[in-house]
Amino acid sequence: MKETKLVFIADTHHFSKTLADGGRAYYLRSGSDQKCLLETGAIIDAAFDAIANSDADAVLLAGDITNDGERVCHEEMREKLYALQKKKDVFVITATHDWCCDGNPRKFSGNAVYHDVPVMGHEELRDFYFDFGPRQANSEFITHLGTCSYTVDVGENVRILALNDDQNGSGAAGFSEPHFQWIEAQIAQAQADGKVLIGMEHHLLMTHVHPMITGVGSTCVGDREAVASRLADAGLRYMFVGHSHIQCIGSFTSAKGNTITEVNVGALVGYPAPMVYVTVTDAGLKIDVETLKSFTFEGKTIDAQRYLAAHATALIDRLVEGAALTKREFTDRLCAMGLKGENFEKLYYPLHPLARLYFKATANTVYRLLCALGCRTYIDRTALAVYGDKPLQEFVGETWLSILDAQGKGVSDKAYYRLVMGVTNALVHLKRCTLTLDLRDALNNILLGESFKDAVI
Ligand SMILES: [Fe+2]
Ligand SMILES: [Fe+2]
Repeated sequence: MKETKLVFIADTHHFSKTLADGGRAYYLRSGSDQKCLLETGAIIDAAFDAIANSDADAVLLAGDITNDGERVCHEEMREKLYALQKKKDVFVITATHDWCCDGNPRKFSGNAVYHDVPVMGHEELRDFYFDFGPRQANSEFITHLGTCSYTVDVGENVRILALNDDQNGSGAAGFSEPHFQWIEAQIAQAQADGKVLIGMEHHLLMTHVHPMITGVGSTCVGDREAVASRLADAGLRYMFVGHSHIQCIGSFTSAKGNTITEVNVGALVGYPAPMVYVTVTDAGLKIDVETLKSFTFEGKTIDAQRYLAAHATALIDRLVEGAALTKREFTDRLCAMGLKGENFEKLYYPLHPLARLYFKATANTVYRLLCALGCRTYIDRTALAVYGDKPLQEFVGETWLSILDAQGKGVSDKAYYRLVMGVTNALVHLKRCTLTLDLRDALNNILLGESFKDAVI
């Protein structure tokens, strides 16, 4: 079989520079997000340059193309896609952030947030991105929102099943019954045509890392096990998704014994800015995750990995710092995350001393605290000798980055693993409940991570 090479990206969330002036309102908004905002144009340009110069036959973008459906963001982003299309085939699906599903478009000026931002309606998206999928499609399904799913052929024997899963008609992400019947017909047709069928949608079919991280809210499609089973039993083997902004791979096996493997493609405009190259071979799909090395922003060349990691960890630091500062800072920073900050005012007083301690605490501080609580035996003293002076803030930041890139530190560093798991075992000892047990399992998964470099699925 002649090998076909694809590259998947997701969650480009392009944010137009016309929507912010860098004032306090923008500072708060930017600090409340793991992904970048004003930098997105520069990051996307650099990634598209790298992709244009790669040996990929086609580029696939798995939704959340824009920040939040702002018309100006769509217009700027489509120009970038047209420029890339001069070098590569480009296919996209849209997702809920492409039509501002929260009804809260924002622009930022000085201290103020304004909401009078023109946005694109979901019924406009299919025509707006017609040249990136619908135009080349073998078959197309128009959803009740007016968005579209389609199939398109790439190379000699690969077919992409590009699915819009914004709403299933029952209040969750997924597919209506007529949509599902069209999908099953496409899976059967691909088998009849001898094509390797690769699915792409925005929401997750299965939880990754741990259900307490990706199994909550609207991260997955509604009734996820039923949907994943139905797709697997129909014969679909591969799905590429975005949405969680986490880069990882997982699989699900239905009760009938059929397995579907899901590659969750992380956000291009946040750490680790992955570009997932896929080589379709006789043995399966060979996965090679490349991460963006650098981009040019305001005339400077930026080390992308270092910059994006710092931006992601600043999300936690700025939130805790707010509690360590004033009540006003605390509530402002929560509001910038889309929460009702005033509802959390009372939390400021108990959190304030803890937040101040957070920035001073080291592993030794945690150890002393656990000793005082009678948990001395849970801490590995050899590991503590290595990491005793390491700030707690660094452990937390590294854990957050390991969620995003699935490259846990615990495999290569046994002392690190023993120390963190010792602390979580102590927490379970102090209070055995669903929260502490889930936390321990989640941290175990995060620390062990996944090795998807050169994986074949
Ligand atoms: Fe997203
Ligand atoms: Fe999303």
